[in-house]
Amino acid sequence: MSENKAAFLLEPKGRFEVRDAPIELPGPGEVLIKVHAVGLQPADEKVAKLSVIPMEYPAVLGGPVGGVVQALGQGVTKVAVGDRISCGTLVFKQHKPKYGGTQRYTLVSEHEIIEIGDTDFKTVVTLGSYTPPSCLFASNGLKMHYPSIPAKPLPAEEQGKKILIWGGSSAMGSLSISYAKQAGYTVISTSSPHNFDLLKSLGADHIFDHSEPATVEKIRDLFPIDYWFDTISLKPSVNTILKILAPAGKPVTKAYIHMLLPLVMAGNPILPENITVGMHRFNTLAPENADWAKYFLSRGGFMEKGIKSGAIKGVPPHLLGGLENVSDGIEELHKGVSGEKIVIDPWA
Ligand SMILES: NC(=O)c1ccc[n+]([C@@H]2O[C@H](COP(=O)([O-])OP(=O)(O)OC[C@H]3O[C@@H](n4cnc5c(N)ncnc54)[C@H](OP(=O)(O)O)[C@@H]3O)[C@@H](O)[C@H]2O)c1
Repeated sequence: MSENKAAFLLEPKGRFEVRDAPIELPGPGEVLIKVHAVGLQPADEKVAKLSVIPMEYPAVLGGPVGGVVQALGQGVTKVAVGDRISCGTLVFKQHKPKYGGTQRYTLVSEHEIIEIGDTDFKTVVTLGSYTPPSCLFASNGLKMHYPSIPAKPLPAEEQGKKILIWGGSSAMGSLSISYAKQAGYTVISTSSPHNFDLLKSLGADHIFDHSEPATVEKIRDLFPIDYWFDTISLKPSVNTILKILAPAGKPVTKAYIHMLLPLVMAGNPILPENITVGMHRFNTLAPENADWAKYFLSRGGFMEKGIKSGAIKGVPPHLLGGLENVSDGIEELHKGVSGEKIVIDPWA
């Protein structure tokens, strides 16, 4: 095995430096991956710039990764050495550098690995998140009907139902459109006009400009809307969704809005009567998620089939360069990306 190198964040809110790093041995249930592509996500920017999660420093951020299995920890049976895989990283659960993605070798959990066949590593980094399918289908999410490949008609009680996915050009929103369409739902979504073609290509049925005031009325014209998912969960998105649901503060319908950030990030607006919100928190190993995990994460499960068949699509990858470019990637996220995911190749 060649030597490891990692992009280290030297201290809270500090600078990045590429340094040699050890290649760690996988513990029980862990897998050592040679990383060929790693995504940078908004959480990486919030940790690097604002230090919102306590980390062990120097820290290694980044995820999900696409790569090749190098070694198996005790008890691992889901994958074999040499398998091509995608996986979320454990860095924001374990806080240790050996679990970060912006390095040549990292440790991931067997449980969350997806075998990807011949799919390109850069592309799987945009597809490998289990957050969208857990938001839409899990028992502590929106509890929508599971998707299948090939797609099947929805059962009678779900037929004709609609979901609003706010932020369809975000990494999470784009995947959510794809999953909801594969399950058979009608999808209403929003983005800037320059991303309308992306949303169309993902299958969205009704597409609106999130900054256009007329969008509020146009979406209300599509009522009833059965499921509400705000993938942005900041002031502009939450306030606009509340305007749709409750013009002048008077709710026209009952609704539950699933969110990806706590309501405090949207300035804690007062919720009109009959409108509730919940932030997504998900543990793939929790007993209540066992059926979900079996369906989506197991070998031959939905995520593996969806990635290999091309049924699951997301935003395109934007390959920014190698480990030296991690700092630039964090700056790009800070300015705000649009309809793409920033990807780093640790060997470039
Ligand atoms: N709770 C969890 O488990 C969890 C997991 C993953 C992510 N998250 C959080 O979820 C959020 C989204 O993550 P991400 O990676 O999907 O973000 P992202 O891809 O970086 O989001 C960028 C997109 O946001 C869109 N956007 C910005 N403001 C908008 C608005 N007011 N209305 C509609 N769209 C808007 C932009 O659309 P246009 O360019 O088209 O305008 C852009 O394409 C982040 O805050 C992240 O930290 C939470």
